Amino acid sequence: MAESKGKVLIVDDESNARGALTEILREEGYETESAADGFKALGKLGTFAPDLILTDLKMPGLDGIGLLDEVRTASPTSVVVVMTAFATIDSAVDAIKKGAENYLTKPLDPSSLLAVVERAMEKARLRAETALLRARLQERNAFGHIVGEHSAMQELLRTVEQVAPSRSSVLVVGESGTGKELIASALHRHSTRAAGPFVRLHCASLAEGLLESELFGHERGAFTGAVGRREGRFKQADGGTLLLDEVSEIPASTQVKLLRVLQEREFERVGGNETVHVDVRIIAASNVDLRERVRRGTFREDLFYRLNVITLEVPPLRARRSDIGPLAHFFLRRYASENGKRLEGFTDQVMGEMLSYLWPGNVRELEHAVERAVVLAKGPMIGLEHLASNIRGGHKALEPIGSAGLKVQIPGMSITDLERVAILETLKSVGGSTSKAAKILGISPRKIQYKLHEYGAPAGTVNYASDED
Ligand SMILES: Nc1ncnc2c1ncn2[C@@H]1O[C@H](COP(=O)(O)OP(=O)(O)OP(=O)(O)O)[C@@H](O)[C@H]1O
Ligand SMILES: [Mg+2]
Repeated sequence: MAESKGKVLIVDDESNARGALTEILREEGYETESAADGFKALGKLGTFAPDLILTDLKMPGLDGIGLLDEVRTASPTSVVVVMTAFATIDSAVDAIKKGAENYLTKPLDPSSLLAVVERAMEKARLRAETALLRARLQERNAFGHIVGEHSAMQELLRTVEQVAPSRSSVLVVGESGTGKELIASALHRHSTRAAGPFVRLHCASLAEGLLESELFGHERGAFTGAVGRREGRFKQADGGTLLLDEVSEIPASTQVKLLRVLQEREFERVGGNETVHVDVRIIAASNVDLRERVRRGTFREDLFYRLNVITLEVPPLRARRSDIGPLAHFFLRRYASENGKRLEGFTDQVMGEMLSYLWPGNVRELEHAVERAVVLAKGPMIGLEHLASNIRGGHKALEPIGSAGLKVQIPGMSITDLERVAILETLKSVGGSTSKAAKILGISPRKIQYKLHEYGAPAGTVNYASDED
């Protein structure tokens, strides 16, 4: 049988009518089911999930209008077309008002029937697409689930829960793409202000004057183009949390004003002298070392101490390799469902490559790599060919990568990273034999096993351990 053009549920109390409709629609390539009244039709919604419900209006039990009402909540994406005798056209108009897509008059004329069905199907497809998009959006906006099995992340998450309820300012530091924004939003959601707004301002992207008016708002006529009073982010965040992202980039004059808000919880709009009071919790995020900026004199020390009441440090991904596997699977599920693909996992080789790569762009880079792979994948597994070439071939991780310039660098790398590179590279060179690698490295095969486990290779996904004896 050719692919179905869509599913139609035929509802009519006359069995002849059901039979005739079924025949015409099946002939045309639609999948059909039929029911003798509204209640029986409702019973079929769950299992059949029709794109289109073609229903008679006058039926014993639940009639067409009653069915229409129920369908709106039971199967909101199904499109309804009603059928009525010419004499009762008023009730068809009624049905349209209640949400029916169209109506057909009996006796039915097959060609107009098919035209109406085709258009209704188009509408059903649109509805389904919209519903899917909305669901995806909700999923994306849903409280960002934080993957973090590594002990450093576990500790960080515990601290988040501990400090969330207080009103103290928090400084979240970490390399780009490590998840600072996610941590900031977790702080907000675990706080007593969770019901209030969470407002984010990216401080680096605005010119000095604009940044001030963005933070504090402005009065009418404060500058050319200020046609009315406008409230700033501080006011928007009243009762909630304000995230100042890339806080290091705030110019000196604005730093002074920010300091005052932190101390006194009040400010004036740009171009005005009315004092505005707010209750806002500040979270600042930075991917540069603020202390260093203080030493260089570009960041005020007093402001630094005000912001830095509590510091949360998000470790780079390479320092928590055991999170690579869980994160990769998390993103695989997310993007597979977004792209409507059924994907089971990564091949051993892919997992091996991902574990030995240094991820200079951290979690964001991993997320993009998995998204790309999901889009490219045709079968159930992500294979090497779906991995970007800079990630493929672990040796490349030892060469300079982008601006981060990561390579085997002495000084410049921690013993832990050097050890990891040594173990994974040696294993690769001996085709994955732990005993051979152990001899070369002068450590026990057990230690290699243990290390691989620490790097996050879930049991059985990396066949490095195949020759243990
Ligand atoms: N632990 C995690 N679990 C799940 N997703 C994560 C995790 N960490 C980061 N992500 C995802 O990675 C991406 C980058 O994270 P985020 O924007 O929070 O990084 P950032 O540290 O603010 O980066 P930047 O300094 O560049 O602004 C986001 O899509 C985020 O949802
Ligand atoms: Mg960020």
